[in-house]
Amino acid sequence: MDFELNKTQLLQRELFRKFAEEEVKPLAKEMDEAEELNPELIEKMKKLGFFGIPFGREYGGEGQDYISYALCMEEISKADASSGVTISVHTSLYCGGVNEFGTEEQKQAFLRPCVDGTSVGCFGLTEPGAGSDAAGVQTKAKKEGDHYVINGSKIFTTNGGFADYTLLFALTNPELGTKGMSAFVVPLHAEGVDISANIERCGIRAASNVVIAYENVVVPEFNRIGKEGEGFKIAMTCLNGGRIGIAAQAVGIAQGAIDETIKYVKERKQFGKPIAAFQNTQFQLAEMQTKVDAARLLVWRAAATKNAHGNYISQAAMAKMFASDVACQVTRECVQLMGGYGYCREYPVERMYRDAKITEIYEGTSEVMKIVVSGGMKLK
Ligand code: CAA
Repeated sequence: MDFELNKTQLLQRELFRKFAEEEVKPLAKEMDEAEELNPELIEKMKKLGFFGIPFGREYGGEGQDYISYALCMEEISKADASSGVTISVHTSLYCGGVNEFGTEEQKQAFLRPCVDGTSVGCFGLTEPGAGSDAAGVQTKAKKEGDHYVINGSKIFTTNGGFADYTLLFALTNPELGTKGMSAFVVPLHAEGVDISANIERCGIRAASNVVIAYENVVVPEFNRIGKEGEGFKIAMTCLNGGRIGIAAQAVGIAQGAIDETIKYVKERKQFGKPIAAFQNTQFQLAEMQTKVDAARLLVWRAAATKNAHGNYISQAAMAKMFASDVACQVTRECVQLMGGYGYCREYPVERMYRDAKITEIYEGTSEVMKIVVSGGMKLK
């Protein structure tokens, strides 16, 4: 068993870390306040290949593995969780689905432009009445000759405000439940697509998150990914991979909060000495770092299993369940160690505390993660 990163992964981590420190971190506060990502930052990340890390060079991707992708997610999210989720939804949910289930022609048409830095993808599963109950999707795709006509509405679509394509899930055979759902690539400039303003949120405020309505949107049969009826399986598979990305995001948020707190406790003096000299501070940070390291190992295990084409479903769910809990605990405790200053917008732990919460919710709540993990334990 090898707990070390290989040479390529170490180099990749250095690249992500340097970029995050120099390019992302200085913008994080203003992007949170503006509730918008800096478009130049997105362009820089595309140019450096951050939007195509685990995809083949034959499609314009970086040809790296899922550990490298997790490292990117951790390092970028350490500086700014909103930038992290932007990469994650594009990579795991949109590109992951097209890469795994698309035909060669579909990959050339819908994967290549998204991994070579030209376009951005998003994911259309969640609806007002279909959150944890993903099978409750009501959006419909009616076959008419050689095309489908799509009607419905999707909520909480990350990246939807600026993405070019969505991987959309719609019922092609409503009587069949999960077996009647199909997946489609829908260009977001298509006629009948209506994109709302950003939904105002507690954290990851710079990320784009919108409602998208589809009214009589026509897509050719070519845009259906997988067979009719395979949509639910495709959605679940995308989310299995996505959970590794979100778990890595949670590790990044927590590590970022610890790093900021260490700087602070060395400078802040109370009762005549730096608060880093108090055993309470030292023990709290020791406990936090132990939990973050444990979460990181769970992320790396799931990513390594995915690299090896093993069954990583439960491992990804465990990693997300644990890492998101750690991120919420750690950011709360970092705010507490920093006292009143930790609660002020002047210091980034305040933002990290708000950003951490969503990792327990999106791409499957912690309760859904328990369904997935216990489902893998063959209790019934
Ligand atoms: N991986 C692969 N297949 C899976 C699966 C998984 N994780 N979970 C279920 N399936 C398969 C089952 O094996 C079953 O297949 P068969 O019919 O062939 O046996 C089929 O799917 C139906 O399974 P269930 O009967 O268990 O389905 P269910 O309706 O009871 O729901 C659930 C199961 C686990 C709760 C599922 O609905 C779920 O994962 N919900 C959470 C949805 C989610 O994560 N949403 C996130 C939205 S996207 C987002 O957040 C993006 C963003 O912007 C950041």
